[in-house]
Amino acid sequence: MRRKIVHVGAKQLTYEIRQIVSVANRIAGFGREIKWENIGDPIEKGAVIEPWMKEIVTGLAAQDQSYRYTDSQGEPATRKFLSELINSRPGANAGADDIIFFNGLGDAVAKIFGFLKREARIIGPSPAYSTHSSAEAAHSGYDHLTYKLDPENQWLPDLDDLRNKVKYNDSIAGILLINPDNPTGIVYSRELLKQIVDIAAEHDLFIIADETYCNVVFPGVEFTYINEVIGNVPAISMKSVSKEYPWPGARCGWLEVYNRGRDEEFNTFILSLINAKRLEVCSTTLPQLSIPPIMGDPRYPEHLRKQSEIYAGRAAEAFSVMSGIDGVKVIMPQGALYFTVMFEDGVLNENQKLEIAEDDIRTYIEEITKGMALDKRFVYYLLGAEGICVVPLTGFCSDLKGFRFTLLESDDRKRMDIYSSIAESVRKFLASGQ
Ligand SMILES: Cc1ncc(COP(=O)(O)O)c(C=O)c1O
Repeated sequence: MRRKIVHVGAKQLTYEIRQIVSVANRIAGFGREIKWENIGDPIEKGAVIEPWMKEIVTGLAAQDQSYRYTDSQGEPATRKFLSELINSRPGANAGADDIIFFNGLGDAVAKIFGFLKREARIIGPSPAYSTHSSAEAAHSGYDHLTYKLDPENQWLPDLDDLRNKVKYNDSIAGILLINPDNPTGIVYSRELLKQIVDIAAEHDLFIIADETYCNVVFPGVEFTYINEVIGNVPAISMKSVSKEYPWPGARCGWLEVYNRGRDEEFNTFILSLINAKRLEVCSTTLPQLSIPPIMGDPRYPEHLRKQSEIYAGRAAEAFSVMSGIDGVKVIMPQGALYFTVMFEDGVLNENQKLEIAEDDIRTYIEEITKGMALDKRFVYYLLGAEGICVVPLTGFCSDLKGFRFTLLESDDRKRMDIYSSIAESVRKFLASGQ
């Protein structure tokens, strides 16, 4: 090429959750059935949409008006509905104009980091959800800046680490948190959120709170929305229908902006996101239209309650199968759709293996695992030996070794078989190569 055309951050665009799919497909090509435990799509794993929700969506699909463009920021009636919902809680308010729709939060994340000044950095948790960490890294051209979630303290954020990094790196403009968290499933307490808000206030930063899983919180766990504790600090909350209805294929997520008027620079940044959306005309109309009738339906809270109870039950199953294995650490999640297993320091080495009966699969796995991160090596052997596809923790922008699987398989027998096979494989893998 006459000119260099590759963006400085292009090499940062990695998404392990999906990258492993190409390896899994190769293994499927050798005749192995794959059990997909990598991707957080409840529908793929047998979740059934409530019939009353389908009726609402079907009814909308029958109306010509559902096929039009809508406002660039999103359907006005839906934004009004959501704004009333937000303002019914104590805390910072958001008007209809403080809500911006996107084609899924994936689109929102790309816009946020795409239009953030290159020198302005957002510090996020590690382990990280790859969409955020990759987008932030690609925007800056450097590795993503992170604060530690501490497995020795229930995966809670290490606030000293966060405080120090914020204090000594003045390129940091904002703090990202994910609550409930993906991949750890931890839910932040009100007190903890307040402390993070205090750090932001002290250093004149804004907050991005990814609240995708705010309605997937396990029974007995108290959830605090960021706007309840945000005070005067500028903030963005991210929400989505993907995991709630659940309707990930709707590609329908939105930002709720708080305290926009309190900082001119922040407000201008938000306007740039709205203008960016204008260039695309708008996000998909029909899923937005479904929000008031579905979320406003008296059956919706019960649907969310039942759904969270199911995931909590599966988390407890996973916990009972995975805990007690020598060499690994597990923490019972409090929300979201995932379970993370961490290998203790020093238990992994490059000689560990799982038996793979098929020559072609074994040769392929032996070849691709050479020199690989040690948790990823386990993940690939698990894929080769059992056809179970999980995601290595090092793929979540983390130095910790481990892996994440989902709580989504809705066939009870199949799920228990998968969890038992994973546990058995961990035991065998750690016992090998000694
Ligand atoms: C923490 C988190 N944020 C955002 C998303 C993206 O959601 P969407 O389907 O709205 O793009 C996901 C999807 O798994 C997620 O886990």
